Amino acid sequence: MANPSILILPGDGIGPEVMAEVRKIIGWFGENRNLNFDLSEDLVGGAAYDAHGTPLTDATMAKAQSVDAVLLGAVGGPAYDDLDFSVKPERGLLRLRKEMDLFANLRPAQCFDALADFSSLKKDVVAGLDIMIVRELTSGSYFGEPRGISDLPDGQRVGINTQRYTTDEIRRVARSAFELARKRGNKVCSMEKANVMESGILWREEVTWVHQNEYPDVELSHMYADNGAMQLVRWPKQFDVIVTDNLFGDILSDCAAMLTGSLGMLPSASLGVPMENGRPKAMYEPVHGSAPDITGQGKANPIACILSFAMALRYSFDQGAEATRLEAAIETVLAAGARTADLLGPTGGSPISTAEMGDVIIKALDAS
Ligand code: IPM
Ligand code: MG
Repeated sequence: MANPSILILPGDGIGPEVMAEVRKIIGWFGENRNLNFDLSEDLVGGAAYDAHGTPLTDATMAKAQSVDAVLLGAVGGPAYDDLDFSVKPERGLLRLRKEMDLFANLRPAQCFDALADFSSLKKDVVAGLDIMIVRELTSGSYFGEPRGISDLPDGQRVGINTQRYTTDEIRRVARSAFELARKRGNKVCSMEKANVMESGILWREEVTWVHQNEYPDVELSHMYADNGAMQLVRWPKQFDVIVTDNLFGDILSDCAAMLTGSLGMLPSASLGVPMENGRPKAMYEPVHGSAPDITGQGKANPIACILSFAMALRYSFDQGAEATRLEAAIETVLAAGARTADLLGPTGGSPISTAEMGDVIIKALDAS
């Protein structure tokens, strides 16, 4: 059987630096666990724009469609701020999500014990935190039509985006959330704004329909998304799985990420429908961005990107035990005090570099 294939898209800013560490980790699994992958690499975002005048070429898009999983670093940076909207680095990412139909974006927020002191919240609020945000990723106000900026007769301009969800779009992401909940704490909290938005009313009705007809064994609650944001910082441990739309999910997942102390720790998986080989269409990426302020200085934390590969092991390659091995190695190095600059916290200390963090994780894997 051919090795499973992975397309690596390092992208911009710190993307290439953190991806170099992921390559080391992938290499370790090949040498030590007989897990081999066919790796290819290509450009996305500003890097693709510089080379080709577009943030994602058709050829790269086709390659992404043909592999078993895509690993993406980050896109964007100040050099591209003034580009036309249609060729901004972010459009490359959004095209991948849309054309691969990656409707379920899994964003776990887990607080590692060794980092519980680093959260801006009190330790007892975040210690042991383990929640999963399931964000709808291919619809809603990110993609709804009509959209655009146009001129009004009175000389003003108007900017329009449309929040739009269909029955099927809501039901399929709800199913993803219920399935995950069954393997975790068996609780789903759905967040929308049914008090002011028709799309929110439909969201609540359809999530309830899926619950009653297919997952009555899972505990379901509903919350307005603004209250959800407040509850996330008040007492986040009340949640197990949160399911929400594209825009609310973007905001709520940044909020949840920071509960864990650093955005540099958080991975994500974006999953679509199963391909012919049974694996879901999938892209894995850290939640953090391209961090232009620290690019090229060896300061970036590679853990979010490495944990994204762990999610690939679990969700694309059916290697849950190996994913757990990798996560445990990361726990070990954090417990032993390994810290990139973002993890120093108020007490300071001397940070290790991006590459050194990769190396100590490899050592911990050797010892596992
Ligand atoms: C994210 C990011 C993206 C989004 C940007 C980079 C387009 O913020 O993945 O959360 O808004 O979805
Ligand atoms: Mg975001």
